Order: sequence, then structure tokens, then C-alpha cells
Amino acid sequence: MSETLENLSSESRVFPPPADLAERANVTASDYDAATADRLGYWAQQAHRLTWTKEWDQVLDWSNPPFAKWFVGGALNIAYNCVDRHVEAGLGDKVAIHWEGEPGDTRTITYADLLTSVSQAANALTELGIGAGDRVAIYLPMIPEAAVAMLACARIGALHSVVFGGFSVDALATRIQDADAKLVITADGGYRRGKPSALKPMVDDAVAQCPSIENVLVVRRTGQDVAWGEKDKWWHETVEQASEQHKPESFDAEHPLFILYTSGTTGKPKGILHTTGGYLTQASYTFDAVFDHKPDTDVFWCTADIGWVTGHSYIVYGPLSNGATQVMYEGTPDTPHKGRFWEIVDKYHVSLLYTAPTLIRTMMKWGEDIPAKYDLSSLRVLGSVGEPINPEAWMWYRKNVGRDRAPIVDTWWQTETGGMMISPLPGVTATKPGSAMTPLPGISADVVDDQAQSVPDGGGGFLVLREPWPSMLRTIWGDDQRFIDTYWSRFGAGAGSGDEWIYFAGDGAKKDDDGALWLLGRVDDVMLISGHNISTTEVESALVSHPSVAEAAVVGASDPTTGQAIVAFTIPRGTADIEGAAGEALIQELRNHVAKTLGPIAKPRQIMLVPELPKTRSGKIMRRLLRDVAENRSLGDVTTLQDSAVMDLISSGMQSGK
Ligand code: WT7
Repeated sequence: MSETLENLSSESRVFPPPADLAERANVTASDYDAATADRLGYWAQQAHRLTWTKEWDQVLDWSNPPFAKWFVGGALNIAYNCVDRHVEAGLGDKVAIHWEGEPGDTRTITYADLLTSVSQAANALTELGIGAGDRVAIYLPMIPEAAVAMLACARIGALHSVVFGGFSVDALATRIQDADAKLVITADGGYRRGKPSALKPMVDDAVAQCPSIENVLVVRRTGQDVAWGEKDKWWHETVEQASEQHKPESFDAEHPLFILYTSGTTGKPKGILHTTGGYLTQASYTFDAVFDHKPDTDVFWCTADIGWVTGHSYIVYGPLSNGATQVMYEGTPDTPHKGRFWEIVDKYHVSLLYTAPTLIRTMMKWGEDIPAKYDLSSLRVLGSVGEPINPEAWMWYRKNVGRDRAPIVDTWWQTETGGMMISPLPGVTATKPGSAMTPLPGISADVVDDQAQSVPDGGGGFLVLREPWPSMLRTIWGDDQRFIDTYWSRFGAGAGSGDEWIYFAGDGAKKDDDGALWLLGRVDDVMLISGHNISTTEVESALVSHPSVAEAAVVGASDPTTGQAIVAFTIPRGTADIEGAAGEALIQELRNHVAKTLGPIAKPRQIMLVPELPKTRSGKIMRRLLRDVAENRSLGDVTTLQDSAVMDLISSGMQSGK
């Protein structure tokens, strides 16, 4: 990518915060000023939201960059902050988790119940020989035991490494080996698309390749038959029989909390390491600020899996440290019917919803009559995370889910950042559809060119973070050099120039004329068309702005004349006519539509109408695979309607990794 990224699209729609929300907002405009005046003081103030057993001596130690220490000398227990202190404050009967199983079974877990379970699990883990600093792999479906297991690890100072339940044996085994885990916590299976799916057999296969594992703790969820070996112990025969009394010990602010693997584009997965005090401070603060959480009335629901960082920070640590009531759902959005999500919002009166653009675009494809059938009037803040949200998907979310009333917070962050970094504040920010708007108070994000120079408003380039933040990753587990190379060696001191250490996020971004930030996708995905750097995101958003398109993925395919040319894979909306000549006509119309919206430079060379797109397990579009398809296909095939077999072929190559 050369100096700048073209800045093609423009958006003039603006939505000011609702007056009633703004009036009672947890965080107001003055917070930005306070954080600008004294960034570390601002974070210290946020850290005081937590209960510390020992106050820190220094907010930030950045004397050995890029290795940061936050709240140096402070001590606390994470589980105490997420559970015990709410019970001590008289909130034992408050619901922590409204759990909804996919088959429709439910569990209501209060903070007092959670304290009992976490204490029992902490005792059982100790009994199994797990101590502070040990690693525990967690491979569970979306059941309350997943949160209990994480909190029990945190309570005794063991590091959890949650592996998404949809990952393969190999993915699980590699992660166990990399972290040298001593224990795996799993289940017989979980419910997925209307049937029980097995987990235990994968664990058996993985454990056979992992001599470090001493015990396997198994939750009974589905009741299906499981093979039973020497290392296996039932959760209900150990944890649920253990003592309900457990005294939390305090740990240093920099005591490691968890490892979470994120697969880069190349090489083995990176074990992102997060620590205690700074991580909880930012997870807790951002939950309160960005969702404007009101503990007495709000019901929160984050639809992510606990196996992703979103689930770590905004199912477990953020909401629970704030004493929130939340919904946790085990299954898929279309089981047993496509209205399941809205049925859950309706049933539990969810007021704060956090979901992903991929889900919103899927809902768009299914049609607006589905959410229209439910009472969604409880919703007051809508969140988005994981990918850039196309302006039309944003508008659809606002209109059909938020009923033109609830503000949308598009939150940019990463596994590496641990918590939200760039987002509107619902009571402060006038939002633009598709923009993550501005860095949160205390965060310094910027968009720079090749030379690490800040681009002016209206320009595009690389997203960077100029100052350390509390929930930043501390390293890559076991590989400090890779940590430096991956994130700190592109710009500034880490690259051997300047004295500022600059974190390179790997995303392209632009500033609009008002300085608002627009995320443009991974820089690996940026296309170079006749010498112009064009972002896949902008072309995709232009396609999605056409009424016949629900979802689009764009890649740059090598081209003899333009270097790269734009190839688009497009999913039509349910109502669009795409048979035969109508499909051909739609393709021409879409090519012209993009040219008209963004300019002739962005006109796709080819558009394919497809029923599905290859996605990662966390719902991100895998453009890399589409690029392979785009480059190997003869020109004659490309304008014809593809059947799902084409994508099935692609999908068969994406067993693991995200
Ligand atoms: C990458 C990080 C953050 C939790 C889930 C993903 C993309 C994330 C946004 C957003 C545009 C976004 C970026 C980022 N991303 N949120 N609001 N707008 N892009 O965590 O798996 O570590 O992925 O997701 O490309 O770098 P992750």
C-alpha cells in the first residue's frame, strides 16, 4: 500500500443522540476533555470503579516499550470484582444470566448462584492441582459453565485459554500444546441447528496428542454417550460436590489473566496475552460508557460466542464487573425459526444489544417482516462489532431493530486491544451510518501514511494507536519477538525511526472531512487498481447500498492492464429476481451503480451472484479464498449465477482458523 488510501465514499446522514438518553448519560462530552488533559489520571479514575485490595503506586510503567505495565503495585481479584462484591452489596438475588438453550430450555442464574458455582469450581480446580499461573483450556458450548469456568480460573490466578467450540481437533491440540495446558474443561456436547453436536470425542483425540493434560473436566449438557478415560471427571461429580466456600486471593495487577489465540493471515495462531488490572478496568469502563448501562433497569445481550474476545470482554468481564443482568444464548439465530433473536429480545426485554455486521446482513437477506413481528420496544442502545458495518446495513439495523430511535454504537477493537477503542458514545456522539466515529476518552487512535505522518481530514491510510492503553495485549504467549515484529515494527521507534512507539493495528482507515474515523478493512485486503489504493469495504458498501443486494465481498484479482481489478461476490436480497437474463441485467446495473456511487475507478470488472460467502468461524468474510477463486476462473464463467457448490468447494478448504 502506498502513501494514502483513496477516500471514495461520502456519507451525509447524521443521527444525533436521543435527548432523553443524552440527559441521563453515564458519560458526557466533558470526559473527552478530562482524558485529554490527563490521560493517565482519567484511567486511574476508571480503575477506581473496581475493588482493589492494594492501591497501585504508578498508573503506567512504559519504561521498557512495547512491554507495558499498568497499575503497577496494585492488587485485586477479578472474580471478586465480577461476583462477590455484588453479593456483598445486597444484589445476591439479582439475575446475572438469563440463559436460553437452543432447544428452549432455560436457566436463571443470580449473582448469589454465580458465587456458589464459581467458588465450587475454584475449589474443584485447586483439588485437581491447578494453581496460580497454570493454564486451563476451555472448550465448551455457550452454557453458563463456560463463564463459571473462566471466573474460577481467574479467581485462583490460573490462565484460561478458551478455544471456540466449533474449532477442530487440530486447532484445539495446537492451542493446548502452545500453552502447555494442564486441564481441559469441556462438555459431552451442545445444541447446534436443532441437534446435539458432540465435543468430547474431539477432546479425546486432542488429549491423545497433548501429554501436558492431566485431567479433563466434562459438563453433561446433552446426555449423549461419551467414551470415558482415566483423565475424565464429570463436572457434576466434582465441581457440584465441592465446598461452596472459597476465599478469593488477590493477584498483582499484571498477573496474567488469559491467553486467547487469534490466527493471523500467516503462520501459527498467536496466543494473545492479557493481564489483570488494566484489562478489567477497560472492559468494565467501556461496557458502562459505550452501552450507557443502567444497572437497575437494563438487560444486556451480546450475541457473540464466549470463544471470541467479544465474549470474554462483553459477556464475562465487562457486564459482570458492572453487576449487569444479561442474556446468554446457546444456539444459532435461525433455530428453530428465523425470528429467534427477536423472540429472545422480546421475551427478556433486552435493552442493550451487541451483535455483528454479518448477522445484520443475514437478517437483511431474510427480510424486514421477521423483526417486525416482535416487540422490540425495550431496545435502547444497539452495538456492532467485528467488521466494518456497511452504511445500508447500519440503516437497516437502525430502522428495523432500533425502530429509528435507538442509537447505534459501532465499536472498533481487536483481540489484541482487549476492549473497545473507537466508538460513538450513545449520549454524546452524533453518528454517521458506517463510521466508528472517534476514539473513546483516554484512547489515542490516528490514521497515518507510510511515514507515520498523520493524514489530514479527508485522507486515508493505516490505523495506529499512539499511546498505550490499559487493556492492551502484553505480549504473544512465549514469543516476545513476534509481538514486537507484528505490532510495533511498522512505524516509529519499533521500526527504528522516531522515539514514539506506535501500535500498527493492521487495518486501513480514513478520516472524513469532519475527522470521523471510517474503518476500511484489513490492509492485506486493500486493492491496487491502476495505481490507486481502493478499500474492499467501500466497494462492498456501495454494492450493499443497492436495494437488490444483501451482502457483498470484494477482492482484487490480478489483471494484465490495471494490475489488480475488482471482482465482487454478491448475495441478492430474498426478493431480487436473478434468473437468467434478469441476473445478467442486475449485474450490469450493479457495476454501474458502483461506478456512479464511488467513481469509475471502482467499477467492478466482474460481479458474481452467489447464495453464500465464505466466512470465518467468527463471521468475517474470508476474502483470501475468494481471491483464489477470482484469479483462477476463466472470464466466461464469471457473470453466470453460481450455485452453492462453488462456495461449498471453497468452504471445504476452511476447516479451521478464522
Ligand atoms: C479486527 C479484529 C473486536 C472483537 C471482534 C473481532 C475488525 C472489529 C470492527 C469495527 C471495522 C472492525 C478489524 C479488526 N473489526 N471491529 N467496528 N469496524 N472493523 O476481534 O477477531 O481480533 O478482529 O476485526 O479488522 O482489526 P478480532
